[in-house]
Amino acid sequence: MLKVTYLGHSCVYATDGKHKLIVDPFLTGNPQATVPAQDIDVDYILATHGHGDHLGDAVEISKRTGATIIAPNELANWVSLRGADAHNMHIGGSYQFEFGRVKLTIAHHGSSAGESGLEYTGNPCGFVFDMGGKTVYHTGDTGLFLDMKLIGELHPIDIMFLPIGDNFTMGVDDAVRAVQFVKPKIAVPIHYNTWEIIAADPNEFARKLQSSGVKVVILNPNQSLEL
Ligand code: NI
Ligand code: MN
Repeated sequence: MLKVTYLGHSCVYATDGKHKLIVDPFLTGNPQATVPAQDIDVDYILATHGHGDHLGDAVEISKRTGATIIAPNELANWVSLRGADAHNMHIGGSYQFEFGRVKLTIAHHGSSAGESGLEYTGNPCGFVFDMGGKTVYHTGDTGLFLDMKLIGELHPIDIMFLPIGDNFTMGVDDAVRAVQFVKPKIAVPIHYNTWEIIAADPNEFARKLQSSGVKVVILNPNQSLEL
């Protein structure tokens, strides 16, 4: 069993009933968030990159709960320096955690953090992870890339979370291509309508994938899906 809950923007909570993790825990200052960061209790935090709308409350949650932040090496070092517990990984690498295996994928984007937003935090990533007998692909922030075909071939994906908001990431049409490349069972659009600059219509995304054989599920913040 895998239960995923969308917490707004790029934030996804996942549990198999025994283990709990959160991806990109941007809750404080997230206009879509309905759950305060202080209410988050997890074992692991998966951080795709250092941008504030992804790393978000990760350090605070880790320090409070003891959760381990799984992140690309430079970002893992950055959060470690700030008192968080971290597991350093890098793109192409995978590791068996208690809940399942995690693999870091490429993501075409940037990664920086800190007060200025200019402190170097290495390369951004996406995550393919297994939990509760299901495989999840959270692409992180990225443009479209052809290697997504390979990711889908190597790892049959049950559920894929991908941005559709354009400007900083894929827009709707490129996201449709991404889904066609990966061929997940379910696709969930994220990273849209948080702010005007990433306004997008998830129904257009769903409509364009109507005959693709992929089920599109549009989740509202705090809405869950059980697989
Ligand atoms: Ni970003
Ligand atoms: Mn972002």
